[in-house]
Amino acid sequence: MSRPFPLQPGEMRDLYGVYEQHALGAALAESLPPGAVLFLEGELGAGKTTLTQGLVGALGFREPVTSPTYALINAYPTPAGQVLHVDAYRVRDVNELYEMDLEDLISTSRLSVIEWGEGLYLDYPQAPILHLAHVDGQPDLRRVTRKR
Ligand SMILES: Nc1ncnc2c1ncn2[C@@H]1O[C@H](COP(=O)(O)OP(=O)(O)O)[C@@H](O)[C@H]1O
Ligand SMILES: [Mg+2]
Repeated sequence: MSRPFPLQPGEMRDLYGVYEQHALGAALAESLPPGAVLFLEGELGAGKTTLTQGLVGALGFREPVTSPTYALINAYPTPAGQVLHVDAYRVRDVNELYEMDLEDLISTSRLSVIEWGEGLYLDYPQAPILHLAHVDGQPDLRRVTRKR
């Protein structure tokens, strides 16, 4: 019962407010199959965690979703299966992640959201990449572009 992915490669969308940011996350959750990876890029405050909150919430997880910046990997046990949330910002060498059994964790998870995961793009060629950004002069808007 999966839906089409909400953005085509190269497509851009403006999201007005947290509600729309959550809604895109929910649409992503409904379109990505078990074991899928989703890459998120974008500067601090661009809405990566907010998008992930919508995604995890849509899978039925009702507790707070926070940034995994210090933990590196958070795992949310949703009723639909585990969602991994990886923040690779501080990772210098992707082997650090592989040493944490990332591959197995991904393959047994419902979905894996990976922030700042450039070092993994070639290893997961099917995984969509979303770039999130602020727009000058429009604090209540975030611009999302599907790069792949
Ligand atoms: N589409 C949006 N419009 C307006 N504000 C947003 C939007 N998405 C997120 N925000 C707000 O921006 C701030 C930073 O969002 P966050 O998801 O923590 O960013 P990141 O994880 O990329 O650093 C939060 O206060 C959040 O509520
Ligand atoms: Mg964040």
